[in-house]
Amino acid sequence: MNILVINGSPKGERSNTLRLTNAFLEGISYARKDNLPKIERLNIAQMDINSCLGCFSCWKTTPGKCCLDDDMQIVIEKLLWADLTIWSFPLYYFSLPGKLKTVIDRQLPLTLPFMLSNAEGGGHPSRYDMSKKKTVLISTCGFYTAESNYDSIIAQFNKICGKGNYTTLFCGQGELFQVLELSRRTEEYLTVVQQAGQEYMSGGITKETNLKLQELLFPRDVFERMADASWGI
Ligand SMILES: Cc1cc2nc3c(=O)[nH]c(=O)nc-3n(C[C@H](O)[C@H](O)[C@H](O)COP(=O)(O)O)c2cc1C
Repeated sequence: MNILVINGSPKGERSNTLRLTNAFLEGISYARKDNLPKIERLNIAQMDINSCLGCFSCWKTTPGKCCLDDDMQIVIEKLLWADLTIWSFPLYYFSLPGKLKTVIDRQLPLTLPFMLSNAEGGGHPSRYDMSKKKTVLISTCGFYTAESNYDSIIAQFNKICGKGNYTTLFCGQGELFQVLELSRRTEEYLTVVQQAGQEYMSGGITKETNLKLQELLFPRDVFERMADASWGI
């Protein structure tokens, strides 16, 4: 199995979210210990990826190929290689960080220009058979809960992947993953994420694990007092 990790945090390796993603990958590797997956990682922040020019040359002039000669070619190649793509990113303004949105826009060469008559609201068919590929979204955010903060992400990926065709792992209080003094709780949470990775490979994340993933790291009032005090201003 080929796994692609797209790290969309501008903080690269220092990403809070990446802690969860690494725990999830550990769980996957544990489930597949007899046949370890191949894992490729792309740190989007360090890559040369420019905005889509909207010229449609990837549909008209050079079908399937963008006119921009930058690192997006690597991303496309890896997306086609991967059986499972894990999008690992922080929540920015209730949405994706800008450069990750650019990566999504630049996937246009993976689609065909024709209209899909059976897609609600409209759509384009895929240029390649992506039907067996799997998608997982892993994200942390700064507010006390993930609940209701990911509505726009969910709406977007429901359109891109199809409702129910991808798995999400969203966690509030993300900055706490950097706080050594709180590591007893955060490590406990990461153990649940690892369990989720293992279960994902063995038929799906169980209801019980999903409920544990939705538990707050700390109660809202405790977290918000810690968060406010942390700025020291
Ligand atoms: C520009 C910016 C916008 C943000 N917007 C939100 C937001 O809308 N909701 C939220 O809960 N957290 C928001 N955050 C907090 C991050 O999502 C949070 O710190 C996250 O854990 C960072 O993850 P990373 O270390 O993987 O990049 C924002 C942070 C920044 C820098």
